[in-house]
Amino acid sequence: MKETLTIALSKGRIFKETMPLLEAAGIQALDDPETSRKLILDTNHDDVKLVIIRATDVPVYVQYGAADLGVTGKDVLMEHGGEGLYEMLDLKIARCKLMTAGFADKPLPEGQLKVATKFVNCTRNYFAEQGRQIELIKLYGSMELAPIVGLADIIVDVVDTGNTLKANGLVPLEHMADISSRIVVNTASMKTKHQRLSTLLDQLKQAVN
Ligand code: ADP
Ligand code: PRP
Ligand code: MG
Repeated sequence: MKETLTIALSKGRIFKETMPLLEAAGIQALDDPETSRKLILDTNHDDVKLVIIRATDVPVYVQYGAADLGVTGKDVLMEHGGEGLYEMLDLKIARCKLMTAGFADKPLPEGQLKVATKFVNCTRNYFAEQGRQIELIKLYGSMELAPIVGLADIIVDVVDTGNTLKANGLVPLEHMADISSRIVVNTASMKTKHQRLSTLLDQLKQAVN
């Protein structure tokens, strides 16, 4: 009996867009995380399990070896910092852009800019590189609300169609990074389970292309 291979995924778009790629590599989930309350899903292989966690927790599980590998957005990965894991493959799914956004017609203040975001590290780095002073306001979601209620001048969030910004009277301003989801692998697992991981990564790579 082989050692278990644990794959960390989050519910929603990452699960939906990753499963066809895992299926092309011969791995099928035996449960649907949208309907099941289980957090560990069995697959058609006794020795492959899926753990279903919050998107921002994926790099943490992989870093500490609680999962051998996982799928996470580049935004989440940049925010985490990437310690203890290897970024192995761009799955080219869940594509979007990390952007600043605000009102189209309102000039930004001369002095310190108030920026609301859940991406505090990315935001701090981006503005520091440009030598721009900001006051960071950490939020956990619904960032689009912050400029409307005067909590912040601008926000930093992921943008795809732009519909959410538009629905809230905001426009995209500065492009910070192109985002897609990546396979990350625990550095120790990469050594101890090398053969299995490199076979799986090859199969996923073929499925992406
Ligand atoms: P959560 O919002 O709980 O963090 P999501 O499933 O919405 O989880 O997002 C997972 C990843 O998908 C994000 O880290 C980002 O890379 C990407 N993403 C987020 N929103 C969008 C979007 N509207 N369109 C495409 N990709 C997105
Ligand atoms: C994400 C993101 C934006 C929106 C951008 O939210 O936080 O609000 O998508 O996409 P758009 O440009 O196509 O409108 P999501 O749909 O993940 O909802 P959430 O608040 O539950 O994370
Ligand atoms: Mg989301």
